[in-house]
Amino acid sequence: MSFRLQPAAPARPNRCQLFGPASNTKLFAKMAASAADVINIDLEDSVAPSDKDLARANAIEAINSIDWGKKTLSVRINSLDTPYWYRDVVDLLEQAGERLDQIMIPKVGCAEDIYAVDALVTAIEAAKGRKKRMAFEVIIESAAGIAHVEAIAAASPRLEAMSLGAADFAASMGMQTTGIGGTQENYYMMHEGQKHWSDPWHWAQAAIVAACRTHGVLPVDGPFGDFSDDEGYIAQAKRSATLGMVGKWAIHPKQIGLANEVFTPSEGAVSEAREILAAMEKAKANGEGATVYKGRLVDIASIKQAEVIVAQAELIAAS
Ligand code: COA
Ligand code: MG
Repeated sequence: MSFRLQPAAPARPNRCQLFGPASNTKLFAKMAASAADVINIDLEDSVAPSDKDLARANAIEAINSIDWGKKTLSVRINSLDTPYWYRDVVDLLEQAGERLDQIMIPKVGCAEDIYAVDALVTAIEAAKGRKKRMAFEVIIESAAGIAHVEAIAAASPRLEAMSLGAADFAASMGMQTTGIGGTQENYYMMHEGQKHWSDPWHWAQAAIVAACRTHGVLPVDGPFGDFSDDEGYIAQAKRSATLGMVGKWAIHPKQIGLANEVFTPSEGAVSEAREILAAMEKAKANGEGATVYKGRLVDIASIKQAEVIVAQAELIAAS
């Protein structure tokens, strides 16, 4: 580790973030009763421009009146290039109770986007005597967002989570696809006459994970649009989990169980991690820094790898 230590990310489960448009009030109770760890009430792109004011009022009413249990409750505001975002922030901070945990800022392109929202939120919190500090989450979904991802991850102590938004990201990058995440037909290599697909989202995910882990922020995979494709969703989620992401969005309730399954370390993985820790304890007692577990090398780095899995399992079990 560097002399500058890596800060821990917030210790809360974030396996699934369930979205629903604030214009569709019928969904709120279903969202609250769901098994998602995080709820994102949307004021942004799933709400038509003509519905923005009503959607904002609906969201505030739902925050104040529905029992959201122990879920992390978040509202996605409109992006800073629109005329809606300041009113979203002002009304939420002035009218929603302290049950609201987070504001999600979409389409961030630079650290100053977060600075601007932080300044507004900080002033309203002080003016209104709000006791709980509002947390932020952001979506990286543009060329500028990914180019400035590290500065964005460092932009505010309020920042707790960062997601990759595949659809807007693809559009901003000029990618030739209309798919929202997952396998892209034309992104393949040829080997001995066979097509082998690779993952066009991988590099952006890895950049997000590195920025997040450097600054103690939770890295999250965003939406998977084809909600009839369970296998595709699971494959995408498994790749994200392998890269270090802690969860994934659900844009339909059938994706919640899939995310929870993938982002909860399996019993097998947890018991293997515990066995590695035990093997290393034994090695340490013998004055050794490395040993053999199931025919393979484990050493002091393996302790940290195993601890990631055990810590994640314990966090989820405690929640
Ligand atoms: N949260 C909770 N419940 C939901 C839901 C959601 N996001 N989406 C659908 N449901 C419910 C429906 O109300 C329905 O409930 P019922 O069985 O009691 O009638 C059930 O799940 C099955 O829904 P289904 O008929 O398959 O879907 P739909 O046609 O009603 O809605 C979408 C499909 C995609 C429009 C809807 O899921 C949706 O709005 N998703 C979120 C979109 C969003 O927020 N996008 C922004 C982030 S990318
Ligand atoms: Mg988007």
